[in-house]
Amino acid sequence: MLEKIDHIGIAVPDLDAAVAVYSRLFGIEPTHREVVASDGVETAMFEVGESRIELLGSLGPDSKIANFLVKRGGGIHHVAYGVADVQLALDHLAAEGTQLLDTAPRPGAGGRLVAFLHPRAAAGVLTEICQPDPSRPSGDH
Ligand code: CO
Repeated sequence: MLEKIDHIGIAVPDLDAAVAVYSRLFGIEPTHREVVASDGVETAMFEVGESRIELLGSLGPDSKIANFLVKRGGGIHHVAYGVADVQLALDHLAAEGTQLLDTAPRPGAGGRLVAFLHPRAAAGVLTEICQPDPSRPSGDH
C-alpha cells in the first residue's frame, strides 16, 4: 500500500526562524510555502531526494499543532506515506479496524489529498497518507 515516505512533518514554534535554520544548515530553500487554513498551520516544504521535509508553524491556539507545541515545544509531528489512492487505503484500514482521524481524503499542503491515522493505530506515531490531488495544481510538482 505504501509507495514511499512522502514527507516528515516537523512542528516548529517559529516558522520563519526554522526555515532560516534549515536553509543555513543544509543549504536548501523551501520550494513551497502555503497556509492550510483548515488546519490552522503554515507549511514550508523542502525537497529531499524523492521525499520532503514539511516544517509546520501554528497560526493560533486552535491549530492542529498548537497542543503539540505546548507539550513538546516542537519536533517530529507526523510521518506521511505516499499511496496511490487515499480513499482505497482508508477503506482497507477501516476494514482492519484501524482508528482513523479522517475517514475521507481532504485537501492538504502541496496539492495533495491527505488523511490521518490516530497515533494509537500506528505505534504512537501520527501517520498521514497522501496522494497528488488530481483536481488541484500542485505548485511545485
Ligand atoms: Co503532512
